[in-house]
This record gives sequence, C-alpha cells and structure tokens, in this order.
Amino acid sequence: MKKFLDLISEEMQSAFGAAGYDETLGKVTLSNRPDLCEYQCNGAMAGAKIYKKAPVMIANDVAEKCKDSEIFSSVEAVAPGFLNLKVRESFVEDYLAGMRREEKFGLEMPENPAKIIVDYGGPNVAKPLHVGHLRPAIIGESIKRIARYAGHDVIGDVHLGDWGLPMGLVITEIQERKPGLAYFDENFAGEYPKQPPFTISELEEIYPTASKKSKEDEAYKEKAMEATFKLQSGVRGYRALWKHIVDVSVADLKRNYEKLDVDFDLWKGEADVHDVIPGMVEYLKKEGYAYISEGALVVDVKEETDTKEIPPCMILKSDGASLYNTTDLATIMERMREYHPDRMIYLTDKRQNLYFEQVFRCARKTKLVEPQTELLHVGIGTMNGSDGKPFKTRDGGVMRLENLIKEINEEMYRKITDNRQVEEEEARKTAEVVALSAIKYGDLSNQAAKDYIFDIDKFTSFEGDTGPYILYTIVRIKSILNKIKEQGGSWDESSIREAGSESEKSLMLEITGFNAMMETAYGESAPHKVCAYIYNLANAFNRFYHETKIVTEENEEKRAGWIALLVLTRDILEACIGVLGFFAPERM
Ligand code: ARG
Repeated sequence: MKKFLDLISEEMQSAFGAAGYDETLGKVTLSNRPDLCEYQCNGAMAGAKIYKKAPVMIANDVAEKCKDSEIFSSVEAVAPGFLNLKVRESFVEDYLAGMRREEKFGLEMPENPAKIIVDYGGPNVAKPLHVGHLRPAIIGESIKRIARYAGHDVIGDVHLGDWGLPMGLVITEIQERKPGLAYFDENFAGEYPKQPPFTISELEEIYPTASKKSKEDEAYKEKAMEATFKLQSGVRGYRALWKHIVDVSVADLKRNYEKLDVDFDLWKGEADVHDVIPGMVEYLKKEGYAYISEGALVVDVKEETDTKEIPPCMILKSDGASLYNTTDLATIMERMREYHPDRMIYLTDKRQNLYFEQVFRCARKTKLVEPQTELLHVGIGTMNGSDGKPFKTRDGGVMRLENLIKEINEEMYRKITDNRQVEEEEARKTAEVVALSAIKYGDLSNQAAKDYIFDIDKFTSFEGDTGPYILYTIVRIKSILNKIKEQGGSWDESSIREAGSESEKSLMLEITGFNAMMETAYGESAPHKVCAYIYNLANAFNRFYHETKIVTEENEEKRAGWIALLVLTRDILEACIGVLGFFAPERM
C-alpha cells in the first residue's frame, strides 16, 4: 500500500500543478502545530523565490484548487504562506480499511529481498554475561526481527568469542588444578571423557581467577599464551578440553538468551574460521595487499580524506598468532562464500567504532566483499546507572545479566501484587512477561548510539514512555474485547467507519503512519522509531478510550466501528512489540 503521507503529497502536488506551479513543491509533512491542523505544506514558501510572488498568494492559488479534493476536508492558506491541512474522515476510513485487508497492514514487501546477516550478542565463552551484553543482544534481536518483518532474508549469528587468550587462560588454570587429566597427557591416545571436568559455576570462577593471576604473574601469562598457541595449532587434548569449555558455556548462554527471548540462527564463533585463515593470509600476500611491518603482517587502510589517523589493520602478530581482526576478516570471507549476504550488520559497544572502520575498509580494499556489499556497524552507547556511571551492582561490582533480570522480575512482581489479590503462579508469570517489556523497551526506546540511564523505577512504571505502559494498553484493549464477548457480542474486523470524534480521528491518523514508520525503522536499523510510534499510538488510544463509552454504546453500527478500530489498534501494537522482541500477557 502506498504510504498515507505520500498519497496526501500526491494530491497536493497535483494542486500545485493545476495552479500553474512546480508540482514538486507540494510535499506534505506532519503538522508541527497539531492545534491548528493535521498536516502542512510549506511549498508556497519555497515557491516564492522561484516565482517572485508573495508566498501567501501562491498558497491561496493552491488552496483554491483543493476545493473539491476527495482527500482534504480543509486547506487553509495562512500568513506568511503556509498551507494548513486537514484530511477527510472518509479518506482515513478507506485507508484503514485497506490496512485491515492487506497483509502486514499494507507494508510493501521488497521485490528482491535482501540477504542480511546480523552479528550480535558477541558473548565470550567461559565468561558470564554481564550488563554490557544486554544492549547488543536486545537491539540486535530487534533489528533482526524488523528486517524479517520488512520481508528480508535474515540470519542472526552470535559470533562467540571462543578462540583467544581467554581460552588459554582457562586451560592453564584447569591444568594447575588438575594436572593429571588425560587432556594434558601427550601420550594419551584413547578417547577423552564425554563429561566435562568442571561445571558452569566452576568455569565462571576459573576465568576471573586465571585472568587475575596472569596480570600478577608473568610466568603464568606465558603459560597461558603457550596454551592458546597449542590449542590453535591443534594439540588434541587441548582441543578436546576446549570443546568442553565451549559446550558448557554455550548451554549456559543459551539459557540466558532464552530468558531475554533472544535467539540466534547460527552459533558460530571465532574458532570456526581458524582453518580459513591460512588461505586468506596467502591471498592477502599474493595480491600485494598485506606487507610486513615491524614483524607483523598488516594492511594499510588509511584514506586521503581521513581527518584522523586510521592505523593499519593487523592481520598476524609477529609470532604468527591471529587476532580479533583476523577472525573477523576470515568470517567475512566465509560468510560471502557460504551465504553471499547483501549486508552484514554488527552490533557492539561503540568503543569498537574504529576497530570496525578498519576491518570494513580492509575487507573492501582487499575485495573480500563485493563493491555493493554493505557493511554496517551499529555502535552502542553505555548503559549507565542512576548516578550516570556505567551500571554496577550495589557494591560496585559488574552486574551479571541474570541478576539484573532477577531484580527486575522481583520489582515487577511487587508492583503487580501490590494491593491486589493475584494467584502466586500467575503473578510470577505475568511479572516475567512485563519485566521483559520493561528491560527491552527501556533499552530500545533510546537511540542505540546514545548512553542511557537504566532507571529501574522508571522502566517498570505503568505510566509514561515504558514497556509496561504499552502492555497495559494492549491488555486494556483485550479486556474490553473480552467483556464484549462475555456479553455475547461478536465483531467484524472490517467494519471500520468514519471517525465521529476528534480523539477517534487522532487515533486513526496515528495508525496510518505504520508502514512509513516500519520502512524507516528498517532502513535506518532503528528500533527506537518503533517505540516512538507505539508510544504515540498508545497515548492516542487511551485518550479515545477515556472519552468513549464503548461497551455500553447502543448504536450498533457505531459500536461495531469502534470495536473494529480497537482490534486494529491491538493488532498493530502487538505486531510492533513483536519486532521489538517482547509480547503482551492476556491479563495483568
Ligand atoms: N566478543 C566480542 C567482544 O566481547 C564481540 C564480538 C562482536 N562481533 C564481531 N564479529 N566482532 O567484544
């Protein structure tokens, strides 16, 4: 379906043309004076220069041509030359009826769906998820869902950090504790045990211990580096032990992501491209892209137009070891070979902005991707506590994601059971659903790149620009519909009718913006646009609801129209929270 604003613009453009002016002047935008009009056109102002005429004269000429418009109910030329517009109720009604009939409320599907890989989450094996992993997971999940909703072919990849020094550290610490394990016996030729020699909680304690030791003890660090090297060069026992580390860790990561309703199509990691690296290095050397600088193999990525220094991209360290860069470039190569994506989107902390700039430039320059392949890094701002500093636990430690979620679940449970008689089990379940909306909406409603304050009180509130407020609105609609059903009523979704009140029309106009909003959210990888849209929609609905007695209305036709409007509002809100990555309960 054509976008609502485009239809209005077309009508205005014909009016400009009919009045003898350039049609392109007829662009219509939302009104920035909603008290005066619904939409506006500033084309007469721009036309004044071209036609050397007072803008208000042009505006008057155009307004004159709109007298019989089937779209505009009022077109007013006001000083100094603005066109204030209102649209006909019948036009809005027709548009909404169209949205109801069409799939995805009239969002146009692409003729050639793009193949997109979203690389998000980025957890590191053997380390617990902490709050820093929250944003890339939540925002990435939503970007993935939005692109899918918009009709594209999307693959989500977790891209585990599973191949670097942290692995060597963990192996070293295990060896310190249990040197007798078969994994460390070079002469062992049998099958290694199926059971891992540690539990997840042991593993989570092993890594920080090892990391601390390596900072204090040079010899320990050497050992860890050697273990990393042995692992990467394929020593059998090290590989087998590593496999246990990854398996135990991934099982735990999956459990955590599941709680956040975040799921990945691919659980690939840095290690998966290990065997691709030699071939890639060979290629980079042979084509003359890579050269040795101070012992290391590098590719220059600076460009003439740079205003700041962009250091070369390091492919191999002087000892031949690969780096974060190397695995990312090899992954790009692999993805091109295996999936041939049109776009790859990466989500990480924005402190990796420069890093990705280097990697992308390197991939382009060395032709690992095609000229038209898009590479996009969404750099994410920090999640701060109420004190404006990076979010910490009460005693100043790093907050584990699990504990944060628990805390919010508790807070939500408290709010839900406050002054109310609710069955324990149901209250717990509802609390979880609402808590998820609080966390995700709180995060997603902020622009990804901006730092934001994670304010538990605010995010869990049922009022204001929050997830619980959106859910509350959806649940309110559901309960009205249930009441009608209980009274024996039924409805026909398609019986949308002309708005009979100002608040009803405002609600309908909010709804019309759906496809334009979704297109922008997709095009700009910007879930916050979806949040802004549903917040306005929920506000418009609640205003309409407070002014309208729906259930007791006796005029059948009127009531049927309202019910259809309610159903459409609910369906759109639910589609939107679906792409944000949460859902609404039946009651709350
Ligand atoms: N594991 C990395 C980190 O903790 C994030 C990975 C992001 N994805 C990527 N392809 N580099 O910083």
